[in-house]
Amino acid sequence: MSEASRPIAVLGGTGPAGMGIALRWARAGETIIIGSRDAQRAQDAADKIADQIANQVKEKTGNHTRISGMENSAACAAADILVLTVPFEGQGALLKQLKPALRPGSILIDATVALAAGVGGRASRTLGVWQGSAAQQAAELVPKGVSVVAAFHNLSADLLNGDEDLDCDVIVCSDDASAAHLTRSLAAKIPGVRAIDGGKLENARILEQITALLIGLNIRHKGHGGIRITGLPPQAYD
Ligand SMILES: NC(=O)c1ccc[n+]([C@@H]2O[C@H](COP(=O)([O-])OP(=O)(O)OC[C@H]3O[C@@H](n4cnc5c(N)ncnc54)[C@H](OP(=O)(O)O)[C@@H]3O)[C@@H](O)[C@H]2O)c1
Repeated sequence: MSEASRPIAVLGGTGPAGMGIALRWARAGETIIIGSRDAQRAQDAADKIADQIANQVKEKTGNHTRISGMENSAACAAADILVLTVPFEGQGALLKQLKPALRPGSILIDATVALAAGVGGRASRTLGVWQGSAAQQAAELVPKGVSVVAAFHNLSADLLNGDEDLDCDVIVCSDDASAAHLTRSLAAKIPGVRAIDGGKLENARILEQITALLIGLNIRHKGHGGIRITGLPPQAYD
């Protein structure tokens, strides 16, 4: 299967984070499956993204967007690259439910942030997660042979759903070097994004804390802040 025709399933892709990532990758020519607890909601989100892209490109090339919608387990069964974009409070139960559909050899890219807002607290604070981070919790819940990668925590969904380049770095953490490499190559398909190897999955706890800080900054300064790392050599961004 060619790189762009291998499907990527975005679970919980009906929300702003998942839709924004799906939009950017569909624009880059990737084949996307939006996942949802409800198949019709997934298809509606896929249609919305396809329309958004078609409106931009129809005069030039016609609409060749490859995007569809499915219930989350059907989406898992149809793809080996999975992106998880659900609220932390639903992450554990969803992964337990999806376990039979997750195949060894798949990659689960987790963008979940354990925000205190999920339990009535502030969005600018994170919850303590027993395993260290939401991504490490995911790694405990997936079947053996599924690689978990933490990424995209620090990208604003508002910016992802727009048309401008992002001007942000994406730090990618995983214990599986090849899964992290693939994730970095996908991140770099988002215009303006540089992807950086952030080391082991345990560093995901820091990515989540940065999101909470960014949310606080965005509230205080009314913006859509992201991060840029300076001082690294060019080869750090592959
Ligand atoms: N928004 C951002 O800027 C941003 C940036 C970086 C990371 N994140 C992280 O990415 C994740 C998604 O963010 P979001 O803003 O897109 O969240 P969201 O809109 O609250 O949720 C995304 C989708 O998750 C599904 N969902 C909601 N509750 C669920 C549950 N209990 N069980 C299973 N699925 C559930 C829903 O899809 P269905 O109802 O269709 O199933 C929903 O559309 C969060 O963990 C967030 O912290 C967000």
